[in-house]
Amino acid sequence: MSEPRQILVTSALPYANGSIHLGHMLEYIQTDMWVRFQKLRGNQCIYVCADDAHGSAIMLRAEKEGITPEQLIANVQAEHSSDFADFLVDFDNFHSTHSEENRELSGLIYARLRDAGHIATRSVTQYFDPEKGMFLADRFIKGTCPKCAAEDQYGDNCEKCGATYAPTELKNPKSAISGATPVLRDSQHFFFKLPDFQAMLQQWTRSGTLQDAVANKLAEWLDSGLQEWDISRDAPYFGFEIPGEPGKYFYVWLDAPIGYMASFKNLCARRPELDFDAFWNEGSKAELYHFIGKDIVNFHALFWPAMLEGAGFRKPSAVNVHGYLTVNGAKMSKSRGTFIKARTYLDHLQPEYLRYYYAAKLGRGVDDLDLNLEDFVQKVNSDLVGKVVNIASRCAGFIHKGNEGVMVAGDAAPELTEAFLAAAPSIADAYEGRDFGRAMREIMALADRANAWIADKAPWSLAKQEGKQDEVQAICAQGINLFRQLVIFLKPVLPVLAADAEAFLNVAPLTWNDHLSRLENHQLNPFKALMSRIEPAKVEAMVAASKEDLLASEATAPAGNGELAKDPLSAEIEFDTFAAVDLRVALIVKAEAVPGADKLLQLTLDIGDERRNVFSGIKSAYPDPSQLEGRLTMMVANLKPRKMRFGVSEGMVMAAGPGGEEIYLLSPDSGAKPGQRIK
Ligand code: MSP
Ligand code: ZN
Repeated sequence: MSEPRQILVTSALPYANGSIHLGHMLEYIQTDMWVRFQKLRGNQCIYVCADDAHGSAIMLRAEKEGITPEQLIANVQAEHSSDFADFLVDFDNFHSTHSEENRELSGLIYARLRDAGHIATRSVTQYFDPEKGMFLADRFIKGTCPKCAAEDQYGDNCEKCGATYAPTELKNPKSAISGATPVLRDSQHFFFKLPDFQAMLQQWTRSGTLQDAVANKLAEWLDSGLQEWDISRDAPYFGFEIPGEPGKYFYVWLDAPIGYMASFKNLCARRPELDFDAFWNEGSKAELYHFIGKDIVNFHALFWPAMLEGAGFRKPSAVNVHGYLTVNGAKMSKSRGTFIKARTYLDHLQPEYLRYYYAAKLGRGVDDLDLNLEDFVQKVNSDLVGKVVNIASRCAGFIHKGNEGVMVAGDAAPELTEAFLAAAPSIADAYEGRDFGRAMREIMALADRANAWIADKAPWSLAKQEGKQDEVQAICAQGINLFRQLVIFLKPVLPVLAADAEAFLNVAPLTWNDHLSRLENHQLNPFKALMSRIEPAKVEAMVAASKEDLLASEATAPAGNGELAKDPLSAEIEFDTFAAVDLRVALIVKAEAVPGADKLLQLTLDIGDERRNVFSGIKSAYPDPSQLEGRLTMMVANLKPRKMRFGVSEGMVMAAGPGGEEIYLLSPDSGAKPGQRIK
């Protein structure tokens, strides 16, 4: 046997400003399956990840919620960690880019790049929001399209006519954050001199590190010449201040991939057998793989290897790129209920169903993968329940009834035994090459053969005949041995099924090489159902709950700071969805500023039969909150209560306007009574 390999694996670091959805899970599940395969084979394989915690989006979202960025990222990290754990994604470490390890490593890499002459500085002119006191990224500027005059378009492209332009070309530009008219302002920026690495990248991207389709795409950029990359942002920004450059911060994408190293370094402190330098220094013998989606290829296959090279670290062995998830043939859609959060899925269905479905459909390419919900139910039920688990449930009973649960010795089907052994190297190759779909097809072909053989032998008929007990036992012992091999082959995909099968089989945790041996004269434990069928009603309930998620998340966003009010509700909704919202007339009994929160008012609302405590981001429009006391407004009364830093918010009041001073609380006509429902 060859030496065990040393492998470090990462998945892209999810942004700490939103929930994990099934699109993300495509990545984390496939990485986890690959890592589990490596571990099953006896390799040393370490899987690290982290939350990507920096950037203006996170800063603004925290502000909107009336909490600090640190609190926001702590909350999100807890949510992400439990989503991943419940999907059986088994990280060796899940860290944060807002960590001391990352601050140090980012500073170190920057200093090495600077000292080697790879950093340039120059002045950049950009839109600045005078009210908010910050420079505006393109997506925080809205205005009228210079080509087709469509209103309310983002700073770099028009959704109506598809034109792309510079934000300065927009007519009537407005800050999407405050609504103010932005002004042009100069500031010094820091640039990473990517063109210094042109020759290295030309070679590296063609050296087997990337799928062909990805290398071809990159060749287009490489051939047209690389640009210097702007790696700094001005305060206010949530990130790391650039050492020695007060008021300047590393752009989130500078320290995000360094977060891979930082998470590993953090793990090394707990696992003394791991040597950071042995994995990361130039010339390292360890393998390093990044799994990412196709949208972030340039960061991982251009900027990142160049940064590593420039700072004297090793480069990745490969960057494995996957396509996007679609659901029922279309982009995930909130209004159709196909924008499914990890947690919403887990509330209704077992994680292994999805793990298997993704495995069955994943290939080596960068094509998008469709989760067709009908096919999902059909495939999981037919393959896992109908083929794999079926073998064990057909055979176990006869062994328990006829032989007290002891598997007899002897090989009742040498051809099948041979076929299973012969298939193993090819299944292993498929896993190794991330061709999970091929691995699943080969495994299911074996399961089909096993089932056909058992059906042909029909132990259930033999069991009714005199003197056939030995034959029944031989067939069923063989069936269980074949089942055991299938479980080994599927273990990277279905770790819980494997653990339950190990308990039934009465064996220690199975490793890949265990497929070479068989169980003979072996005592089994009682058989319990290993997996139940997916009920289509559960899938429907998940889709319905995803539609509700949409309403809840949009409604809980406190009104009034206008940040990217993207208007997802402009999508059509069903009448039932609308009717599910309990709108009431509410009397504002008390309105107070919240100490420590810039934007929030705490409102006590009388809705007839009860009083509600609601936090609302409308302070900028009502600097004297007492003026609100005694007036009527409208509220969403059946919103899930939401825990905020200052307390629980039990609903939401309704207001209109772009934000700042322009927030208008809605009121009913006079005569309305608190608690009356709006129809
Ligand atoms: N924070 C960056 C990554 C930094 S890595 C140093 C980021 N975060 S993300 O949360 O937007 O995405 C995390 C990963 O999930 C990315 O690889 C992304 O491609 C993947 N996916 C996000 N949505 C996806 C689908 N709908 N389908 C498949 N993968 C998707 O990018
Ligand atoms: Zn346009």
